[in-house]
Amino acid sequence: TPTSEEYDVVVIGGGPGGYPAAIKAAQSGLKTACVEKRGSLGGTCLNVGCIPSKAMLNNSHIYHMTKHDLKSRGIDVGDVSLNLDNMLKAKQKAVTGLTKGVEFLFKKYGVDYVKGWGKFASANEIEVDGLDGQKSTLKTKNVIIATGSEATPIPGIEIDEKQIVTSTGALELSKVPKKMIVIGGGVIGLELGSVWSRLGADVTVVEYLGAIGGGMDSELVKSFHKTLSRQGFKFKLNTKVNGAKVENGVVKVDVEAAKGGNAETLEADVVLVSIGRRPFTEGLGLENVGIEVDNRGRIVIDSEFKTNVDNIRCIGDVTFGPMLAHKAEDEGFACAEMIATGHGHVNYDVIPSVIYTHPEVAWVGKSEDEIKKSGTPYKVGSYPFVANSRARTNDDTEGLVKVITDAETDRILGVHIIGPNAGEMVAEAGLAMEYGASAEDVGRTCHAHPTLAEAFKEACLIASFGKAINF
Ligand code: FAD
Ligand code: NAI
Repeated sequence: TPTSEEYDVVVIGGGPGGYPAAIKAAQSGLKTACVEKRGSLGGTCLNVGCIPSKAMLNNSHIYHMTKHDLKSRGIDVGDVSLNLDNMLKAKQKAVTGLTKGVEFLFKKYGVDYVKGWGKFASANEIEVDGLDGQKSTLKTKNVIIATGSEATPIPGIEIDEKQIVTSTGALELSKVPKKMIVIGGGVIGLELGSVWSRLGADVTVVEYLGAIGGGMDSELVKSFHKTLSRQGFKFKLNTKVNGAKVENGVVKVDVEAAKGGNAETLEADVVLVSIGRRPFTEGLGLENVGIEVDNRGRIVIDSEFKTNVDNIRCIGDVTFGPMLAHKAEDEGFACAEMIATGHGHVNYDVIPSVIYTHPEVAWVGKSEDEIKKSGTPYKVGSYPFVANSRARTNDDTEGLVKVITDAETDRILGVHIIGPNAGEMVAEAGLAMEYGASAEDVGRTCHAHPTLAEAFKEACLIASFGKAINF
């Protein structure tokens, strides 16, 4: 039976798309509920994605530094050993703290948190199969779908989340594998491969294409590939996987050159399947309201996030665009504003990407390959961290900043960074691009010394004036 209450907005999914949308809607004076089936808020990102992976990346980096790097810095320590149980607990502490934090924000701003599986009964009625076993129906004027994504499976490879795992299992391994095979050299494979490699695993990445990195600037890919190889990663590029199964406790992976021939069987203790993610709309009842999806399962929306049903909008991983938490969040904010005021905007040209390895890789705007293809005359300013004083003091000098500008207007078109703290530095580049800055504008902006951010300023000087001061 429908509840007597009528909502202005019901958000389905409490991830980084859904929860900001619900908070912004409530802050705008709309009566709002958010339905989440997981039992905790924060979605993939907070529970099994961004947050636990960054906790493991940070702590595995500290472990690796302590074991291999401190001596040269004048710090002698005794035997260093890994306590994986405690490292996993530290990760869980970050997850629990942050997911509870979102629950607190819901209370603070008056969002009703409905725990259960949401399903369309009609365009204005969401049926909820409660986690407590109760069924209810929420009546609402507007719906925002934010149901996210799931790991794309490989046909014929059965995930057990113990030995053949997705990222979720790879964040929970109870011991360090001796040998790990990563299928797919994209963001997840390289980040989680780094975690286990630093903790002692021998990691081989099998990638279908001729390059790792899932579509980053090809100059940076080359440098990144070399760096990871030096760290101990092995790569099998242009290689396809035909199957994988567990036999007597060992995972056997059948691979073959992508073009055919050269078949071999690789063995590992753990295999991570990370070949991308796909939209999640299972059990959502889209068919009950006739919502259109494209050939990749993404919900089709217009520039106001509207589906083909007028009062139903959609944001985040389940629709078009990069599958990133900050993209989902900005869409959530703009979508709620759109419902409340009729206006809301996301600038899709300035969405940063970060790979949280060491060094980090980060970029915003267009790659050189894209600009070349577009025919726009352009200039490049590249500045290596080895010339940056802060990187030298930190003895962490791998990488470079590359700034690409429009040759006629000096406007910044793309910034690509590989280096320490690249993920923080790219925020400045994003802000500059959002405001339409020229490289000269950044080159003339006073940057504190000694900071890594000076490398961005100097790369801008090179792009604009042809020369830097410190290079
Ligand atoms: P999700 O976060 O997937 O949330 C959707 C929620 O909806 C889920 O909690 C689900 O339970 C719920 N739901 C689904 N269907 C229903 C239903 N019918 N009823 C009720 N609830 C439902 N992105 C970054 O930007 N930076 C990173 O560092 C990063 N690291 C990542 C690491 C890993 C290992 C993974 C897997 C992903 C990572 N991502 C990262 C991607 C990021 O997690 C996603 O882009 C982001 O979570 C998408 O947000 P969303 O709200 O669209 O969907
Ligand atoms: P991805 O799209 O980044 O990379 C997948 C890789 O697998 C690609 O290089 C692709 O060529 C390869 N591949 C595809 N099919 C294959 C096959 N059959 N055999 C071998 N290789 C194959 O996807 P990934 O790493 O699974 O991540 C999913 C999404 O999660 C990403 O798109 C990203 O948006 C998000 N994410 C973001 C992070 C961040 O922002 N730091 C961290 C982790 C995930």
